[in-house]
Amino acid sequence: MMQKKPRFSILGLGATGTLWLQKLAAADCFVDIVGRLPQYPTTNFIALDGNQQSINLSDYKAAINAQIDTLLVCVKSYQLRDALTTIKPQLSPTTQILLLQNGMGHEVVARSILPQHAIFIGTLTHGVTRSENTIHHTGEGAVTLGPASAKANTTPPEFVAAMNNALPPVDWQANIEPSLWRKLAINAAINPLTVLFQCKNGALIEQPEYRQRLDQLIDEMGPVLQVKIPELAIEAVREMIHEVARNTAQNTSSMLQDHLNGQPLELESITGHLLSTAKQLAIPLPTHRWLYEQLLNNHCAN
Ligand code: PAF
Repeated sequence: MMQKKPRFSILGLGATGTLWLQKLAAADCFVDIVGRLPQYPTTNFIALDGNQQSINLSDYKAAINAQIDTLLVCVKSYQLRDALTTIKPQLSPTTQILLLQNGMGHEVVARSILPQHAIFIGTLTHGVTRSENTIHHTGEGAVTLGPASAKANTTPPEFVAAMNNALPPVDWQANIEPSLWRKLAINAAINPLTVLFQCKNGALIEQPEYRQRLDQLIDEMGPVLQVKIPELAIEAVREMIHEVARNTAQNTSSMLQDHLNGQPLELESITGHLLSTAKQLAIPLPTHRWLYEQLLNNHCAN
C-alpha cells in the first residue's frame, strides 16, 4: 500500500520556519504556508555546505480551507498568542500543534487558546540566521520534541519520523522539560549578553571581561538549574554553555539579530521565564534581573 505523504503547515517564515520548509520539501513531505507570507516573496536559502537555492514562498501558500494535519508554529515567542488566535478557526480537532519558539512557557499560552488540541513542543540547536531575504543554515544542530498537553501521547507521533528524515537528528523525549531547561540556560546566558556587548557568540569566551560576565550569569542561575535539571552539575552546565559559544563563535545570536533588524527581543520567554521561576523558588538573580532591565529599557524587548 502506498504510504500517505506527511503533511506539514508552517506558521511563521523566519529563519526556523524557512529551514523547516526547505528541509521538509526536499524530503518529499507535503508542505504549505499558513498565515501571512513574509515581506519578501522570494527567499535565498544557503545550506550548510554553501549551496544556494531560491525559494518562491508564494508557491507554498496554502489554499483557502486547506487541511492542516501538523502545524509547525515557528513565529517568535511574543507573536504566539496572536498567531494561534488567528489560525484557530482554520484548525480541525485532529490538527497537531508543534511549538518551536525560543525560551519556555509557550505550552501554557497554546493550551489556553487551544485546550482541546494535541500540543507538542520542541527545542532546536541549529545555527540559522536571517538577513533580509537570505536565510543561512550556519551550524549543524539537533532537535528534541515532546508532548505538551494532555491530548498529546507520550509515544512519538508519526510526524517525528518525517522530521527526523528531513533534518536529523530529531529525538523524542516523553519528558521534554529537562531539554527545554538546558536550552533555556544556554539562551539566558548567551543571548542577552551578546546584545549588551553587541558581539558575536565567540567573543563571550574569548574576551576575558565578557567571559567573566558569562560565568557570573551561569553561577547565578546554578541554584535554579539544580532544581530543574538536577542531573546536570553546575560545572557541566558551564562546559555546555562555553561549548555552544565556541561552536557558534562566528554566529550572531538570534536576540542580537532581532536587535540589529529592529525587531522586538525574545526576552520575556528567556530571561523573563528564568526570573519568574527563580522568584517562585525564592532564589535571587540580581545580574540576570539587571540585564533584563537594561535590555527592556534600552531596546525594543517583548
Ligand atoms: O538563540 C540563538 O542564537 C541560539 O540558540 C544560540 C545557541 C545562542 C546560538 O546562537
